[in-house]
Amino acid sequence: MFDPHARFRQQARWTRALRDYLFRETGLRSARRILEVGCGTGAILADVPPEAPPPHGLDLNLSRLLRARIHAPAALLTCGDARALPYPSHTFDITFCHFTLMWVPNPLQTLREMRRVTRRGGHVLALAEPDYSRRVDEPPELAPLGRWQADALRRQGADPTLGGRLADLFVQAGLRLVETGELAQGPGDALTPEERELEWAVLEADLAGFVPAETLSRLKKLDELAWASGERVLHVPTFFAWGRVP
Ligand SMILES: C[S@@+](CC[C@H](N)C(=O)[O-])C[C@H]1O[C@@H](n2cnc3c(N)ncnc32)[C@H](O)[C@@H]1O
Repeated sequence: MFDPHARFRQQARWTRALRDYLFRETGLRSARRILEVGCGTGAILADVPPEAPPPHGLDLNLSRLLRARIHAPAALLTCGDARALPYPSHTFDITFCHFTLMWVPNPLQTLREMRRVTRRGGHVLALAEPDYSRRVDEPPELAPLGRWQADALRRQGADPTLGGRLADLFVQAGLRLVETGELAQGPGDALTPEERELEWAVLEADLAGFVPAETLSRLKKLDELAWASGERVLHVPTFFAWGRVP
């Protein structure tokens, strides 16, 4: 079984350059109050620069929040639902989320709530949401992995294609879109050998009982050989959006 915090730290590495850029542009260091919606085990909260105000973090999962308390001791944590945020309107200067909207049953309602709790002129950021329907795998024998992973995410209640609709959701939520685009580096690109192991641990956990173990082990060998020969391509287009509250 894999450790979710190790996975979240891996995802946090993919978005570090983007976060540095967006947090600088939105004035994180001079903000008074900031919030991460769906903060999980605190991988992103722990990375907020010390010059910024102590971040607020909210998640529905209490056991993850207990881990966030250890990883981000300065953070102000709340157990609550992203679709009905327990904060007064116009509380935060910057409200952000990271690999979270795809997991929330109603992402539009969540964005409307993120907008409501952010002050006028403040910033709402969705830092990373993938679109697995556009995943690229080479050699082609490995393409089923992407389809199976998308199915597994759906079974767990996630929307694996949310990234492709992110900008549209921002507009529907009444946010003024400032910038949106695809992450330069996303899941799959430039994986270290340790990250590849973690990727497989996630896949094996997700697909257990749905894909025969022998099939997975054959594809894992093929995957290793393709990485070794330089033939492997694994790219999951992953999107960000930055909006302002009008
Ligand atoms: C993939 S994790 C990302 C955690 C963190 N943002 C990070 O990147 O390290 C998604 C998080 O969203 C939380 N989540 C899902 N639905 C939620 C909801 N309705 N309200 C609050 N949190 C929710 C989950 O509990 C989980 O911790």
